[in-house]
Amino acid sequence: MRKEVVLSGIRPTGFLHLGNYFGAMRNFVRMQQEYDCYFFVANWHSLTTHPDTKELKDSVHRVIAENIACGLDPEKVTLYVQSDVPEIAELYLYLNMLAYKGELEKVPTFKDKVRLNPNNVNAGLLTYPVLMAADILIHRSVKVPVGKDQEQHLEMARNFAERFNHRYGEVFPMPYAFNYSNDLVKIMSLDGNGKMSKSENQMATIYLSDSDELVRKKIMKAKTDSGPTENNSEKPDYIQNLFTLMSLVSTKDTFEKFDADFNNCVIRYGDMKKQLAEDMVAFLAPIRARAMEIQHDKAYLQKVMREGAEKARISARATIDKVREGVGMKY
Ligand code: TRP
Repeated sequence: MRKEVVLSGIRPTGFLHLGNYFGAMRNFVRMQQEYDCYFFVANWHSLTTHPDTKELKDSVHRVIAENIACGLDPEKVTLYVQSDVPEIAELYLYLNMLAYKGELEKVPTFKDKVRLNPNNVNAGLLTYPVLMAADILIHRSVKVPVGKDQEQHLEMARNFAERFNHRYGEVFPMPYAFNYSNDLVKIMSLDGNGKMSKSENQMATIYLSDSDELVRKKIMKAKTDSGPTENNSEKPDYIQNLFTLMSLVSTKDTFEKFDADFNNCVIRYGDMKKQLAEDMVAFLAPIRARAMEIQHDKAYLQKVMREGAEKARISARATIDKVREGVGMKY
């Protein structure tokens, strides 16, 4: 039996941080054993908001390198760059004929971007969800690991797929959001304001590329308080977040010691943060070193991207063949 197809895209804007790592990357790594996985760098999507491409090449290389350093194995998954697969652009064209201006204008992410950047409301921005649908449908993917903020885009992908199937014949299975929801870890910003991924405050977000010193500094600055006054009280969310991080990077004994200290009202947050900082540094340093090493090995990066594109295009061509047949573009 053909394994189910998992697909997700990573925008090359911004740096990978702990929220991405524990919320998404670790799941991708786990999925590569069980599914037929496609992961790609969404560089066309970045043009919708970042027309200046001076730094794009470095960013694409960095994203590929970081993903491999986090455990994605290019031998097991198909890891590629979106613009290396022109079949996606062709599918995007057909899907654009099935997407209505009215529904695209209503998408909250579109409205947000218009508000942020009223001078660059380009058609690519409006059709962002159509391109995303093309990314997904090109491999006839069914499982799409994405965060909550992308679920509406996924619903649109289902709508476009359904309209296509209805008009031109069954080509696409319905894609849906997929995560190992039971162990989905949410990492809060270290200043206690929202998710780390949404953080506006760079000092409250730990990036995989941060130096040891910077990681220590950020953790030591993390929000705490004067400690609990009653035994076994509930942890405030910013304290819970430090415990969550500790559970991810420290030993069980360490975690249990500080947990007991909290429950007995004898916790010293300074000591806890020092320990967490050291364990976090030990956890991140090898990932960062590996990412740097890969990023500088241009020959290896080229090989990964070339082989990824070749694999992706085999699957993409098979879909485009059916699409052309359905639409009536075979003469
Ligand atoms: N829109 C996604 C984001 O901003 C990135 C993305 C592009 C994507 N194409 C995709 C995610 C296809 C999943 C599937 O995070």
